[in-house]
Amino acid sequence: MTGTVLALRQASIFHEADGPAVLEGISFSIQAGERVALLGLNGSGKTSLLMGCVGLLFHRGEVEIAGIALGRQTLAQVRRQVGFLFNVPEDQLLLPRVIEDVAFGLLQRGLAAEEARRQAERVLQELGISRLAGQPLHHLSHGQKLRVALAGALVTRPQLLLLDEPSAGLDPPGRRRLVELLCRLEAGMLVATHDIDFARQVCRRFLVLDRGQLVYDGDEPGPLLESWK
Ligand SMILES: Nc1ncnc2c1ncn2[C@@H]1O[C@H](COP(=O)(O)OP(=O)(O)O)[C@@H](O)[C@H]1O
Ligand SMILES: [Mg+2]
Repeated sequence: MTGTVLALRQASIFHEADGPAVLEGISFSIQAGERVALLGLNGSGKTSLLMGCVGLLFHRGEVEIAGIALGRQTLAQVRRQVGFLFNVPEDQLLLPRVIEDVAFGLLQRGLAAEEARRQAERVLQELGISRLAGQPLHHLSHGQKLRVALAGALVTRPQLLLLDEPSAGLDPPGRRRLVELLCRLEAGMLVATHDIDFARQVCRRFLVLDRGQLVYDGDEPGPLLESWK
């Protein structure tokens, strides 16, 4: 896969159709395979930006994923290009057992049950969590739930991953494993986090949000982040 996997052009994002913009005039693009961190303090708009990219909020201006302009008619098509990791893994784990949950996205796309299960098993293996396949989701630790949610996002082999605070609540070994995993993936990704060390381990490019504005896009956000300490 080559080309642009995500592009925003003068995009503004709104929580309510006629309310104030939570993000204003945002422009940037991400190329295939590029890993980009989305940094910002609490409330700066990271989650809203990720949600806006997949049509979960209102937008004006252009949002384009894998060359498809986000709009009412293209919503389903756009979402098929994206693996989304919500801030709280529980918000996206819906089925009782791990393997069923991970296979769900494939069944939705019309894959036969047996093939969906095979592909779900493969992604669990790639994430080193095959042994969880038969477990009920409510038996899992936070770190395990996070990896299962990630498996569900990866199972359809999307070219773009939108990850919301993926390192939150992980212990140091869990965090290290996540860094290794993300660095191994070929997908382009936008990783929202306020964990700068984590961002530096995964990404070479940093976007910084401040109160709904994109205030930095480059490879060394250091001086800007001094005020965070
Ligand atoms: N459902 C909502 N309705 C209206 N405003 C919201 C909603 N969710 C978040 N906000 C506001 O949007 C702004 C950005 O929040 P958010 O995108 O969650 O930031 P971050 O993920 O960087 O912490 C904040 O001012 C927050 O209060
Ligand atoms: Mg957030």
